[in-house]
Amino acid sequence: MNKLTTLPKDTPDVIEPIKRPDLLTVEDAKVMTLPRMTELFTKHLNPGQLHFMKLLGFHKIKIEHAEGMYYYDQNGRAILDFFGGFGSLAFGHNHPRIVAARKQFQDERRQEIAIAFMSQYASALAHNLAACSPGDLDMVFLGSSGSEAMEAAIKVAERAAGPKKPKIVYAENSFHGKTKGVLSITDGQLYRGDFKLVDNTVRIPFGDIDAVENVFRSDPEIGVIVLETIQGGGGIISAPNAYWQKLRALCDQYGVLWIADEVQCGFGRSGRFYAFEHAGVVPDVTALAKSLGGGKAAVGAMIARREVYMKAYGTPKTAMIHAMATFGGIGEACVTAIEAINILYDEHLIDNAAETGNYLLEQLEGLKAKYPAMIKDVRGQGLMIGLEFHDFSKTVPVVLRPVLAILDDKLKGSLPGFIGSHLLRDHGVLVAFTEYNRNVVRLEPPLICQHENVDRFIAALDEVLSRGIVRIVKDFVKAQVK
Ligand SMILES: Cc1ncc(COP(=O)(O)O)c(C=O)c1O
Repeated sequence: MNKLTTLPKDTPDVIEPIKRPDLLTVEDAKVMTLPRMTELFTKHLNPGQLHFMKLLGFHKIKIEHAEGMYYYDQNGRAILDFFGGFGSLAFGHNHPRIVAARKQFQDERRQEIAIAFMSQYASALAHNLAACSPGDLDMVFLGSSGSEAMEAAIKVAERAAGPKKPKIVYAENSFHGKTKGVLSITDGQLYRGDFKLVDNTVRIPFGDIDAVENVFRSDPEIGVIVLETIQGGGGIISAPNAYWQKLRALCDQYGVLWIADEVQCGFGRSGRFYAFEHAGVVPDVTALAKSLGGGKAAVGAMIARREVYMKAYGTPKTAMIHAMATFGGIGEACVTAIEAINILYDEHLIDNAAETGNYLLEQLEGLKAKYPAMIKDVRGQGLMIGLEFHDFSKTVPVVLRPVLAILDDKLKGSLPGFIGSHLLRDHGVLVAFTEYNRNVVRLEPPLICQHENVDRFIAALDEVLSRGIVRIVKDFVKAQVK
């Protein structure tokens, strides 16, 4: 008998009272030391992930609090956040209005679970989302993550497209989430592993309108196309406005529904509420998450054109097929999102994303001109910016290039890794990396970002790059053996 999977039985005459297990309290968690965090992370969370944290020096940092553009660590050091939780911190950390709205909701003892009675908060949030959305993107499904919103998107579209058009087109280097449905349209071998995925999918290159037309023309079973408007995990890749305009026309011509995944690029990040608005066209279904939760709550939303939604779930018989889950429309999350949307407009954060994003791009262009051997490209829209480094072999002295070129694939991500770790250790600046093109550093600072924050980031990056490649590597190795 396996002692780990079989419980000891009570004897019928002695029934032991249930003992409190070895529990930690909230206060215990607050004062936990770094070694204890490392022990528990290894024992109970993700031992393999710790390897990467150690490489980058993240394992030495315990965040004590966070406010605005900054985290504050155990030594009181401020860390400038240019990572922004992959775009989930539009308002920075602990925006006072969001904290106050949540506190008031708690103090008033409002109801949370919204599946028995209608919720005034879920209703108001749905109204706000429809108000921010162009065309007849009016019908809202609320969930608690981007993956859940995207699952809802592909399900509503599949039902609206109908059984004769069951196939879904998706793009190379796409990322739509890790739950099994959307994993089937996520183009990353790392995440797909050997999982058994749904098989009604067709993959095409991103941004190639001829590929879209060919696939629509040749396969009448195609009912849905799903695309990030700006690919995040792919390395901040956009398509020109003409691509989206032609895509809309092709979808209308061939009766295909277009799902725009705006989980990362939406909610003002690109300088418009939705990134697709730059092209002046409207998809059939879209999805938001990340900053919709104001950096405090887990909220995702699928927003569909009324006609599409009604086709899928518009009758009493079909209404419950994909109705909201237990935590869909939960009170405090809705309050947070309602307040978040109001702040987005009251503080003109969408305009700020466009203006500060342009400033950041200009400054990065300056660094690209100064360090052409290291920086390959800078690109993006608003405050969703990619900083791409050359392959490692191209950055080293000429004599070493042929030897290192063989290793370029293996070394992808190493230069951004070295630079990211120096930025954190020596300058207190946090940046993010990219799943598929690991030579790209992803910059998604909060939308409250100001020029002075950009200046500080650029000065830090300039200092690190000015060390030159040999010292950048040496300093990294030195930090590892310390
Ligand atoms: C474009 C896109 N879609 C979907 C998701 C999934 O969101 P979540 O991590 O909240 O499930 C992400 C997450 O990074 C994303 O970037």
